[in-house]
Amino acid sequence: MNDLRNDDAGLTREQLDRLKDAARTASERAYVPYSKFRVGAAVLAEQGEVIAGCNVESASYGLTCCAERATLFSAVAAGKRNLRALLLYTPTPHRYTPCGACRQVIAELAPHAKVICVCDSEESLVATPQELLPASFSL
Ligand code: THU
Repeated sequence: MNDLRNDDAGLTREQLDRLKDAARTASERAYVPYSKFRVGAAVLAEQGEVIAGCNVESASYGLTCCAERATLFSAVAAGKRNLRALLLYTPTPHRYTPCGACRQVIAELAPHAKVICVCDSEESLVATPQELLPASFSL
């Protein structure tokens, strides 16, 4: 696991900027009346396509869907299965990493993607799905 300042995650500056812009825009669309905690995510697919998503909450709290899973499910629906990167953005001074449930889904749907966590400060993290969830469950 690295800081984005020491690891470009194998992406160009332009690709990183596109992912961050898409995730930031998605975070502005987050439906978060309960937590007020906005999260945006964006994935980079094989041919350079970017798909973004945000967290969507429910009054029945357990039905909430995190930004990472919303994004990965959209990527599957769009036929994008070979994902190079998943960037997670929060409009906070601290960078947040994916929750346990999302780590499981990332390991399954984006096993070769670099996971990049960024925020509104220079704090960041670059990690592989395997680093985030060693010995993940699979069938
Ligand atoms: N959330 C995410 O979108 N991703 C995570 O990895 C952790 C948490 C969302 C769920 C909920 O809407 C809010 O953040 C607070 O938990």
